[in-house]
Amino acid sequence: MPKEKLRHVTLVGHMGSGKSTIGSLLGKLMNYDHADLDVVIANQAGRSIGVIFAEKGEKIFRDLEEQALESKLSTPDPLVISTGGGIVERSSNRRLLQEKSFVIWLHTDIKTLVKRVSRRSTRPLLKGKDPLEVLTKLDNERADLYAEIADLTIDTNNMKASNVSELLFDSLKSRLGVENE
Ligand code: S3P
Repeated sequence: MPKEKLRHVTLVGHMGSGKSTIGSLLGKLMNYDHADLDVVIANQAGRSIGVIFAEKGEKIFRDLEEQALESKLSTPDPLVISTGGGIVERSSNRRLLQEKSFVIWLHTDIKTLVKRVSRRSTRPLLKGKDPLEVLTKLDNERADLYAEIADLTIDTNNMKASNVSELLFDSLKSRLGVENE
């Protein structure tokens, strides 16, 4: 089956790139359910992502993240899935994303990301740290990985979430044969 015909759509990119908001809007436009992996993980664990990191550590969080990704990508119904920024760290996740979904990379400049994430400080990887330093390091580690698995890349700098989701919807309609009515 050509990859374009696979049903799940996944959003990848750095924290602050708009994955959750755009995923929710895109799901509505496509008439697909939306799953936010961080929300799935927190609901299943009965605690926030911050508490999971603090109590169990990052390795356990990454295990839960991988399980949540596997489970959502195995659902028969088509989904739009917003992932966490670190989903690309494990090669097994990258393989799964490529095999089972149409991957969209929300590409955003570090300067813009720093502005966005500085408004809210709930992210464990940023706790007590300089966001510019953390995001620059993560970009060095992850940008090539996002690029490697992306079927489509969209630049979200200076763009409203609603505009990004409409552009994505237009582009996906023809590729995936999606109807929203
Ligand atoms: C992480 C990003 C977060 C969350 C966790 C780890 C990361 O998700 O999964 O804090 O490693 O970049 P968002 O990208 O939605 O902030």
